[in-house]
Order: sequence, then C-alpha cells, then structure tokens
Amino acid sequence: MKPFLRIENLSKSFGGVKAVNDLSLSLMPNKINAIIGPNGAGKTTLFNLITGFIKSDSGRIFFEDSELTNLPIHQISRIGVKRTLQIKSVFNSMSVFENLWITLSAHRGNLNPFKKVAHYLSEKERVEEVMEQLDLGRFRDAPAGILSYGDVALLEIGMAIITHPKMILFDEPVCGMSPQETEKVVSKITSIADQTHVVIIEHDMDVVFKIADEITVLAFGQKLATGTPREIADNQKVKEIYFGTDEVLNND
Ligand SMILES: Nc1ncnc2c1ncn2[C@@H]1O[C@H](COP(=O)(O)OP(=O)(O)OP(=O)(O)O)[C@@H](O)[C@H]1O
Ligand SMILES: [Mg+2]
Repeated sequence: MKPFLRIENLSKSFGGVKAVNDLSLSLMPNKINAIIGPNGAGKTTLFNLITGFIKSDSGRIFFEDSELTNLPIHQISRIGVKRTLQIKSVFNSMSVFENLWITLSAHRGNLNPFKKVAHYLSEKERVEEVMEQLDLGRFRDAPAGILSYGDVALLEIGMAIITHPKMILFDEPVCGMSPQETEKVVSKITSIADQTHVVIIEHDMDVVFKIADEITVLAFGQKLATGTPREIADNQKVKEIYFGTDEVLNND
C-alpha cells in the first residue's frame, strides 16, 4: 500500500519558534488518521502548510501523485484537499442551503449571473444530498447564525465535503461540544471516511481512541510516535512527554 500523504523534512518557524521542525511522516489509506500532541505542538501549523494557508521554510508535501509544497490555496483545494477550521466559520446571515450552494458554486466557478439553469439544478441536487447526509434538511432555509454549535459544525463539514474532496483535514471538530453533539459529529466523520481520506486533529482522547485506526503524536514540531491506538497508549515516550501520566490512557 502507498501512503496518500507524504511529508518530507518540513519546517516552519515563527520568529524563534520552530512550529514544525524537520517533520517527516507518511499516512496510509483505508484508515482514519489522528494527529495528537500537546498545545503548541505544531498540529494546526501542519494543516496550514498542507492546505497552503501558510508557506513552508523548507521541506516537501506530496498528496497522492501531486506535490502540494507551497502551491496557492485554491490550487490545493482544486486537487481535492479540504479542511475545517479550529474556529468555526460559516456565513451567519445566509441560509444553510445558501452556505452549501455558494461553496459548491465557487468551487465550480459558476458564480456569475448568466450561468445556465442546468448548473443551478445540478448544484441544487448536490446541496440537497449533502443536507440529507448531515441531517440538515430541517434547517434548509434558516440563517446559519441561529443554528446550535453542533449543527454549525455539521454545516461546516457539509461545506467541506460538498465538492467531493479526496482528503479532508479536521482540526478539533468536536471542541466545545456536548456529548450528544460529539457523538453525532463523530459518526458523520466516520461515515465520510468510507469515501475520503480523513485526518483529524483532536484533543478529546475518547474520540481519538474510538475513531482512529492510526495515531501520529507530535511534540515540539516533530513526530514523537506513530502507531495504532493500543501502541500509542502503551508508548512510554508518549506517556512521559505528552500525557505526563499513565492514567488518561489506561481507562479501558
Ligand atoms: N501565525 C503565527 N504566528 C506566530 N506564531 C505562531 C503562528 N501560528 C502558530 N504559531 C506558534 O507555533 C506553535 C505551534 O502552533 P500550532 O497552532 O500549530 O499548535 P497546535 O499543535 O495546533 O496547538 P493547539 O493544540 O493549542 O491547537 C505555537 O508556539 C504557536 O504559538
Ligand atoms: Mg491547533
């Protein structure tokens, strides 16, 4: 099996802080990959580099047969790499339908007033499909601003999957959620992973150990360990540097 994502000697500093420090890693398909690590470990910076939100100082990034290194955001998105943000971002005054539709139209380059009705109809169909998949149909015409936090998260996930991406990077998708909201979002992410490569940054260890097939641990911008949830739970370095104590991991 070939990795779908390869990172080679990637580095990014902010002033004196080496946020990502000569990082190399490969992620294998047919698995949900989780990236964990303490605050400031460089997880979000890694996602920012992969998706072109920031440029690397050195190193290379490959996704399937494409090199992503320092490509502009829109090109990376066109290759099929999408993300959700750590801080939720939808258009509050637009309806759920409009948020999804505008995302799809912008991706297809159809945002002009003279576009064909046929485009609109095929987009409408896809929007309805995504609303159904994420149980958002009942909010179709409601402004996104009135949705609960969990439903905004589902809308964001919808905006990420609507263009049929090949890989989605989720940055702390259940942060701040109730147990019920968490359960729903986790089940949706699991079902998305049947069709799309999924990489998830998450601090909630219950979620990580439930959802991930493989875990990569970052610390100080470097890879500390990689393995199955069991291997990571048993890894001495991880226990010492990341968790500080055994207790978090040995509750099963
Ligand atoms: N735009 C930026 N400007 C300056 N410093 C930054 C910037 N982005 C990240 N950093 C610094 O880089 C380091 C890594 O940050 P990053 O956000 O990648 O960590 P993280 O692993 O996502 O942490 P968390 O779990 O808290 O989200 C931190 O020391 C952070 O302060
Ligand atoms: Mg982060």
